[in-house]
Amino acid sequence: MTDPRLQTFLAECQARVVSALETQLPDPEIQPEILHRAMRYAVLGPGKRIRPALTYAAGRAIGLDSNVLDAPACAVELIHAYSLVHDDLPAMDDDDLRRGRATCHKAFDEATAILAGDALQALAFQVLASDEAVSASTPARLAMLETLARASGSRGMAGGQALDLVASRSGQDLNLAMLENIHIHKTGALIRSSVRMATLAHPRLDPESAYHLDRYAKCLGLAFQIRDDILDVEGETAVIGKTRGKDRAQGKATYPALLGLAEAREKADALGKESLRNLEDFDERADPLRWIASYVVNRDR
Ligand code: IPE
Ligand code: IPE
Ligand code: MG
Ligand code: MG
Ligand code: MG
Repeated sequence: MTDPRLQTFLAECQARVVSALETQLPDPEIQPEILHRAMRYAVLGPGKRIRPALTYAAGRAIGLDSNVLDAPACAVELIHAYSLVHDDLPAMDDDDLRRGRATCHKAFDEATAILAGDALQALAFQVLASDEAVSASTPARLAMLETLARASGSRGMAGGQALDLVASRSGQDLNLAMLENIHIHKTGALIRSSVRMATLAHPRLDPESAYHLDRYAKCLGLAFQIRDDILDVEGETAVIGKTRGKDRAQGKATYPALLGLAEAREKADALGKESLRNLEDFDERADPLRWIASYVVNRDR
């Protein structure tokens, strides 16, 4: 069961970011309608919005108002949605089900899904560059843009996806360090950027707090993907909203495949605890970050 305090917090974050996303996404009545409809379909489906929630929760931990974080929260979710659209393509994981519905290329077509991903990525940076509520100074806004760009690119998510594909295609035996490297990049980088953008929005954050929040997010990002791997084995397709068992069928490099389920669970658990230790010097305003850490390693979807 999800902690009711977390449920309330997540519901607030979801409502907040979905409303911002609705505003930022192009009108489906405007040309090219099919592309705009595909973009909205990919973003507005029932996602957990964990990355935006992390941005807001990190902001709360350091005393920031949520208003100033809508743009980074939106931007990271747009990049995430784009990464899912491309991840599901036949050339990558070839999945038909996402968030309990047809994947974008199934609901539309492959070329439209590729373009929707491209356009969502561009929109993420447009939102972050132009949103007026981002009260951050120009250098801080530039630092957020750079953070998101690095987390998305060849040394971040896209790079991790490339390593994931090489590993599953070559069938080579991976060791734990190689697997950790894939997960840290394909999933961890974006999760880490969600928290880092909040710390960058603070005008005078002490380096110690910024450091511990970054460590928190780094551990949590890896734990998040390990839990995703576990759910591919033991989750319910109807609950996870994705086809269970795809990783094994495709020879994906995962923690359960390498370590077994029990050890993969222990690893996620240990990372969750390590992320929590980084919050020891924070007061109760960091509680949402604490609830999210427990949720990430125990979630069923
Ligand atoms: C799925 O992410 C892809 C991974 C990086 C593991 P989420 O589990 O956050 O997916 P949604 O946004 O809730 O659908
Ligand atoms: C996803 O990893 C990482 C991304 C960058 C999208 P997975 O391929 O395991 O994600 P799911 O299980 O399809 O959501
Ligand atoms: Mg994948
Ligand atoms: Mg996938
Ligand atoms: Mg997965």
